[in-house]
Amino acid sequence: MKGIILHGGHGTRLRPLTYTSPKHLLHIANKPMSQYALEDLKNVGIHDIAIVVGDVYPEKVKEYYGNGKEFGVNITYIYQEKPKGISHAISLCKEFVGDDKFIVYLGDNVLRKSLTDYTKKFSSSGLDAMILLCEVDNPSKFGVAYIDKEDSMKIKSIIEKPKNPTSNLAVIGVYFLTPKIFDIIDDLKPSSRGELEITDALQLLMDKGNKITYDTVTGWWKDTGTPEDIIHANRLVLDSIGTDEQFLAEKDVSIKGNIIIGNNTDVSHGSSIIGPAIIGKNCKIGRNVRLGPYVSIGDNCTLENCNIENSIIMQNCKIDAKEVNLSSSIISHSSQIDGDAVSKKLQLLLGERTHLKL
Ligand code: DAU
Repeated sequence: MKGIILHGGHGTRLRPLTYTSPKHLLHIANKPMSQYALEDLKNVGIHDIAIVVGDVYPEKVKEYYGNGKEFGVNITYIYQEKPKGISHAISLCKEFVGDDKFIVYLGDNVLRKSLTDYTKKFSSSGLDAMILLCEVDNPSKFGVAYIDKEDSMKIKSIIEKPKNPTSNLAVIGVYFLTPKIFDIIDDLKPSSRGELEITDALQLLMDKGNKITYDTVTGWWKDTGTPEDIIHANRLVLDSIGTDEQFLAEKDVSIKGNIIIGNNTDVSHGSSIIGPAIIGKNCKIGRNVRLGPYVSIGDNCTLENCNIENSIIMQNCKIDAKEVNLSSSIISHSSQIDGDAVSKKLQLLLGERTHLKL
């Protein structure tokens, strides 16, 4: 089997974070979100992976993943000039896929459960497609599947973002497909939002009498379209971390809960960390710092005099602002916050290399 990760699109709901990077490179628990997709594919034995990059800094994606060797996979990059739809992005991969079955993974989806059982089921079946469904409270934001009342394994229809959904089963962004989908996509017409939709391709595949089934997702699944979604995904990932402390802490540091701290990170006395939390390597957690719960601090960060909870601070950041309380914030890499005491809570969304003086 082969894998495809979609890394295109414009990520407009995540600006300013996405002015300088595709959203998929934003970090969740100290890892670019698309790396979760790549690792999920690798963990089911898929080594040939195409990454479809778009027109938002595709070179940054190539710089991070390279030829894939460092991640234990072989990566082919495929360029999608404009975000003309998920089906359009898939159609660009026809040559890469050849005669193999394949999994398409939207690079902004993060899934708790491994793909092992689903992949086994699909690869040993004669199915033409398999989708994964997850119950959600807000189905109108997703592709929605309607199941046949008489045959609970049969999908009746799949509709993209229905206005008044009568099913709460969202189609998640992991699709198990065969090369049959390419002919189907050739026959698609753009939707009202001007895209070749994956849901329309799946519907047409069914209409033409092909075999398609579904499985349901247990555990959590997250589509990370907004800052709130990313912070929520960070919480979900941190909820399942263990403890690994390889750091140099001074004596009266208070540490509670599950915490991962990278090599060569110093935690000074008078600081406290409440897990779950992850702190990268080569960080300096100075005096009067209170971190957590649900905080991710990237590599090479220097923090002094600050309180941070439920937030993501990416690599190479510097924060020294007496008594600043950061909550539900995303600070992109190489940013700096300093200045005088601010007692109230701040909720910030800072693009990379920002300098904020309070
Ligand atoms: O997350 C699951 C949902 O993903 C499904 O329930 C929907 O049926 C499916 O259409 C999709 O909906 P979104 O509105 O979330 O799709 P979005 O435009 O955000 O794109 C999803 C990913 O695919 C994102 O990582 C960007 C990438 N993409 C998107 C388009 C339109 C591309 O690489 N190229 C594209 O042309």
